Amino acid sequence: MIAEEQLRNLTDISYQEAGIYENTRFEKIHNVVYDDAYHASAIVAREIADLIRQKEKEGKPCVLGLATGSSPIRVYSELVRLHKEEGLSFKNVITFNLDEYYPMTKQNVQSYHYFMHEYLFKHIDIPAENINIPNGELHPDEVLDFCVAYENKIKACGGLDFQLLGIGRTGHIGFNEPGSHFNSRTRMVTLDHLTRSDAAPAFLGIENVPKKAITMGIRTVLEARRVVLLAWGQNKAEIIQKAVEGPVTPQVPSTYLQEHHNTTFVMDVGAASELTRIKTPWLVGPCEWNTALTRKAVVWLCDKTGKSILRLTDKDYNDHGMEGLLTKEGSSYDLNIKMFNVLQHTITGWPGGKPNADDAKRPERSAPAKKRVIIFSPHPDDDVISMGGTFDRLVEQGHEVHIVYQTSGNIAVSNHEAIKFAEVSASLTPDASVFTDLIENMRSAADGGIDSPEVLKLKGLIREKESLGATRYMGLPDEQVHFLKLPFYETGAIKKKPLGKEDIDLMCEVIDKVKPHQIYAAGDLADPHGTHKVCLDALLESLKVLKEKPYMSDCWVWLYRGAWHEWDMHEIEMAVPMSPDQVLKKRHSIFFHQSQKDGVMFQGDDSREFWVRAEERNKETAANYHKLGLADYAAMEAFKRYYF
Ligand code: F6R
Repeated sequence: MIAEEQLRNLTDISYQEAGIYENTRFEKIHNVVYDDAYHASAIVAREIADLIRQKEKEGKPCVLGLATGSSPIRVYSELVRLHKEEGLSFKNVITFNLDEYYPMTKQNVQSYHYFMHEYLFKHIDIPAENINIPNGELHPDEVLDFCVAYENKIKACGGLDFQLLGIGRTGHIGFNEPGSHFNSRTRMVTLDHLTRSDAAPAFLGIENVPKKAITMGIRTVLEARRVVLLAWGQNKAEIIQKAVEGPVTPQVPSTYLQEHHNTTFVMDVGAASELTRIKTPWLVGPCEWNTALTRKAVVWLCDKTGKSILRLTDKDYNDHGMEGLLTKEGSSYDLNIKMFNVLQHTITGWPGGKPNADDAKRPERSAPAKKRVIIFSPHPDDDVISMGGTFDRLVEQGHEVHIVYQTSGNIAVSNHEAIKFAEVSASLTPDASVFTDLIENMRSAADGGIDSPEVLKLKGLIREKESLGATRYMGLPDEQVHFLKLPFYETGAIKKKPLGKEDIDLMCEVIDKVKPHQIYAAGDLADPHGTHKVCLDALLESLKVLKEKPYMSDCWVWLYRGAWHEWDMHEIEMAVPMSPDQVLKKRHSIFFHQSQKDGVMFQGDDSREFWVRAEERNKETAANYHKLGLADYAAMEAFKRYYF
């Protein structure tokens, strides 16, 4: 991890000249990586606060360029805290926001205007006249003049002292999408499809996302005296690697920042995970070779050379920066066999442990032969999508399996789906008024508005009954299925409440009741703001609370990945093979979640249905094991152990 001071000493290139940055030699933008976004955001907020104070001392205004989106939220909350608790004043601050959707009214909750007031401006003492945000309410004929005036106003204020940025998965900064010119200035742009699909959940459907935006240009950003770009989560890892290590190209507009002399990318480990020095450290310098890193390197080398483990030669290792590893292990022959066995031992058809077997080389303990198991599922369907095959084996092998659905998932049921159920109910009862009201309510509301509590209840019930269909099909009695409806989720909107004590209490209560030997949970860190991450945080907090309970010392936690990603091959600690019949059984269990089939509301940019994604992913994991030279299975589900 790089020291905090580095963030402050960016212009001091003497260290680079001295060559101590050898391991960053693929990187063309200065960057710092932190364990978590909270800590990193506090440091960025402190840099901004110091700048505000310094400019005040100099008797000059502090001109800030600001971003919206999920990335800067914690920086803003820290600035608000500094204002409230440490007297930081914004009276001397002038702000220019990067962008705004077009067309967009200021009071729309999706507008950047609303966002900035909600997260920052209404909590601090900035004079209203010092706030500048592109105007999404203009007539098209007024946009050009507005853009020119926006640029002139930035200049008249002395230029941007500091520009805060996020990065889109297209590589955009502001809304400068691929193709943006190096010399572009504030203007109207067309949003990329990927950008619109990333924004779709917030707008409850891509069709509601505006097609255009007004954004500051690349040149406007590059003229800022200091630029800090924030990136959190593995979702951003690929584009960060391109921006930091790739060639400068209009196809990835953030690469233009390579030509700015005072830019820092501030990231968490997820966002930085594709950088060469983190992904393949043996390519940039000597490594401390432990088993985990060796495994990562060997899997990578197989991929790189197209060989299975047992075919790797001394030359392969030497040619790819692993001579140190070879020296440590003696020869490729010994190393290959050792790593083959490490991977072989991750495979088991007994996810709950094999009774009465020697478990020294197995991922799970053999005793007790019958385990109590909790499978936490963030939404009512992640259990079968992510680990339907393992779920089936655990039940079949006689373990006491409990499924715990953490949230109701109610906002993911469309009105037309829910109307079907309300109509069936209405036709079964002589007094149908309650249902006809509901139907009317849903017919007149556009998908995307906030539902009434009654509609949310109906939608939650639909998901509950679908889940029971699936768990019964898997052979579970209903009393082993729990619906927590964690309160943080129950806002009826995409924006959730922060995790609270009532959420943790509900989690602790169910764990304490079951006293599990095994817990499975979604370890989906790709989107650090998403519901899966909050549900994982809720579990980790509960584990802290319950840690001292005697049964917890005998409880192992296994993390599965959600519908979009799988663990990397080198991370997998338990791989559970599935036969072709089990693949079909898993598919059918997913089909019970009918409201999530065909054109679901939160599809993302992947148009495949959940069962297709799950099957393709499980087949790919099996194929990857086979490519490494291990057995050839139809499909596999993968887990990583979490130690607490
Ligand atoms: C926002 C902006 C965009 C976002 C980017 C990342 O004002 O200009 O470039 O910074 O789309 O968005 P998040 O932070 O939501 O991942």
